[in-house]
Amino acid sequence: QREALLSTILDSNPDGLVVIDESGMIEFFSRAAERMFGYGAAEVIGRNVSMLMPEPYATAHDGYLRRYRDTGQRRIIGIGRVVAGRRKDGTTFPMDLQIGEANVPGKRCFTGFVRDLTDREDRDRRLAELQ
Ligand code: HEM
Repeated sequence: QREALLSTILDSNPDGLVVIDESGMIEFFSRAAERMFGYGAAEVIGRNVSMLMPEPYATAHDGYLRRYRDTGQRRIIGIGRVVAGRRKDGTTFPMDLQIGEANVPGKRCFTGFVRDLTDREDRDRRLAELQ
């Protein structure tokens, strides 16, 4: 019941939510994330979040997680960053990424809120052309 309510709330938000465990494995993938990346949740759960980004980030991402675990130094968590996302069809798009850290009893996981910036960048480009 509570879970149904929470997923309805999440699905009403245009931002996508991707939850990973400490090793980068995807544990939750919201409806908006499915639309944004073109993957169904069943296709990504249990796989590495690096599948959602282009190189060189994909290869480096495990190292980013390790660096954070070892140093505790936050570079995106609590700050946010515009990064490149990679869709199932291989195309890439600009997205705003906000990362949070959540401690579920016994383990740590990370919440990634993603917003597709494609429309905003198109609009900015058109605006710049007018000036
Ligand atoms: C760190 C890229 C998605 C979790 C990083 C860093 C980069 C990066 C470049 C290192 C930052 C630095 O050292 O300056 C990307 C790209 C993504 C993506 C291109 C596109 C899909 C995600 C998602 C999550 C996530 C969806 C969580 C669900 C983390 C964590 C760190 C990290 C926990 C380390 C903490 C920190 O640096 O503050 N990512 N990431 N990433 N990323 Fe990602």
